[in-house]
Order: sequence, then structure tokens, then C-alpha cells
Amino acid sequence: MVAKQNFEELTRDLPNVGKTLFVPLLGRARAKQFNISFEDTKAEQLAQDYELGRHISLSSLFSKACIVRARAFDTWASQGLGADGILISLGAGLCTRHQRLAREAQNALTFEVDFPEVIGLKRKLYGEGPGQHFLASNILDEAWVLEVQKILQTQGRRNPHFFITLEGVAMYLTPEQITTLMKLLKHHFPSAQFSFDYINRLFVSRAYLLPAINKTNSQFHFAPSCIQAFAKEHQLTLMSDKSIVTDLLDQSTLGKLFRKGPWSGIYKMALFQLP
Ligand SMILES: C[S@@+](CC[C@H](N)C(=O)[O-])C[C@H]1O[C@@H](n2cnc3c(N)ncnc32)[C@H](O)[C@@H]1O
Repeated sequence: MVAKQNFEELTRDLPNVGKTLFVPLLGRARAKQFNISFEDTKAEQLAQDYELGRHISLSSLFSKACIVRARAFDTWASQGLGADGILISLGAGLCTRHQRLAREAQNALTFEVDFPEVIGLKRKLYGEGPGQHFLASNILDEAWVLEVQKILQTQGRRNPHFFITLEGVAMYLTPEQITTLMKLLKHHFPSAQFSFDYINRLFVSRAYLLPAINKTNSQFHFAPSCIQAFAKEHQLTLMSDKSIVTDLLDQSTLGKLFRKGPWSGIYKMALFQLP
């Protein structure tokens, strides 16, 4: 029998918010179990090796939300990137979008930014594939932008098109940090596409409602009260605003009956173009 790996040891050095990365990872690993057409083989392997289901209390509903969210970001990213776009994943965790979108085979570039401890873990577990660059930095810090610029310069890439994702991260930042990030992105990535998922204001300061998040001692801080107003405040063009709950409810017959109700506003994702 293969000895199970030690999850506590694996996560010991991560900052609290870094520990939240195992929540969407475990969700994605369960796609087959729920018969949802989505595959993350690396997540499946890690979930098995570290017995994640034993350490993380993740409901079926929350697991499915993580899967349909990842799938919807995959769709937006592949549509937005086109043939030679550059993907930037902010707060990437153990995301495998680079592999899922077959970007290795296309010789496409992906930058994945996260805290140094998370990037250290990612290097240990996954390693960088062709075209993939892991950047160890706080996403609010200009350091990662300078690194991206340096790499693009070395490769002679001029005026590239960027698609930036902030998946499962915005809610952990404070409104002030979101403003700092938007300033950084607008300054360095004009006309780029930018996407994030966002919770309803009801969940601000209520991470305790989700045991898997509560266990990491992380808290929800940011929720825009109106996505149109958020876009206006940051001079963004809102290209799409869709409910993750609606996609989620589509997974069950009963859910289809409720898909248009008030629940649809509880958890959403938005796509913007930066000025
Ligand atoms: C819930 S996980 C999401 C991971 C990944 N995007 C996914 O969907 O699988 C949140 C991630 O955001 C990262 N994060 C949060 N705040 C950050 C910051 N200020 N700078 C860098 N990474 C950050 C955490 O370390 C963690 O990996």
C-alpha cells in the first residue's frame, strides 16, 4: 500500500489565505464524482495522495461551485486569449488552467502569481511546464509586473494581449487592496481583459458559514454592492456578469426550477476590459 502523504506537513508554512487554495483544488478533484464534464487530473492525484477529503470539510454544493467556476473561467480565458494571448493568473494557487487549456502544446505564455510559500509548494508538487512562469510575489506588489516585463522583453514580445484572472481571491482582499490592485493593473496592462468572481455582501465577515474556509482562519472582506458601479468607479468596461449559482443549479433537475430566483445573485463572476 502506498503511504499517504502528510497534509499538515505540506501546509504548515503557508499563510492562512494560502491554505484556502486546497478548497477549490478538492472541488475540482471531485468533478468525475459529480459527473460534471471537467477534468483536473493533478487535483485528483493530490486529493488522493493527501486524503484531502478527510482534512477539508467541503459540501457537495460548494465542491460543484468550484468546478463550474473553474470551467467558466476556462471558457472566458480561452475565448479572450485568442491564438497568442498571455494569461496572467493572480492568486493562482495550484490552478492547472495552463494545462487544461493545452497552452503547453500551443507554446503559449502563462504567468502565475502567488505568495512565495505557495509558489514554493507549487514548484514542489507541479513544477513549471513549457511556457509557464511561476512568480513569487504579493499580487499587490509591483515586483511581479516587473518580472513579467523582463521575461517578455527577453522573448521579444511587443504589445501582447493579456487576459488576467483573479479566481477565488477578490473576497479575501480588503476594498482598499482591491483599489490598489486595480490601479496597478490599469497602469501596466491597458486594454487587457480582467475577470474575477465575487460574493454577495451578505457573506462579508461571514466566512464562518463555510467550514472549509473557516478552518483556514481566513476572512471575506470584499464584495461589490453593484458591479456596474464598481466598473464605473475603476473606469472598466463591463463585458459580462454571470451567476455561478445559475450554472451550479443547472447540474440538478430541481435546480433548473430555481435558477432564475434571487439565489442567482449570491455568487457571481464578471469580465471587464481595462481602460
Ligand atoms: C482560494 S485560493 C484560489 C486559488 C486558485 N486561484 C484556484 O482557483 O484554484 C486563493 C489564493 O489566492 C492567494 N492570494 C490571496 N491574496 C494574495 C495576495 N495578496 N498576493 C498573492 N496571492 C494571494 C492565496 O495564497 C491562494 O493561493
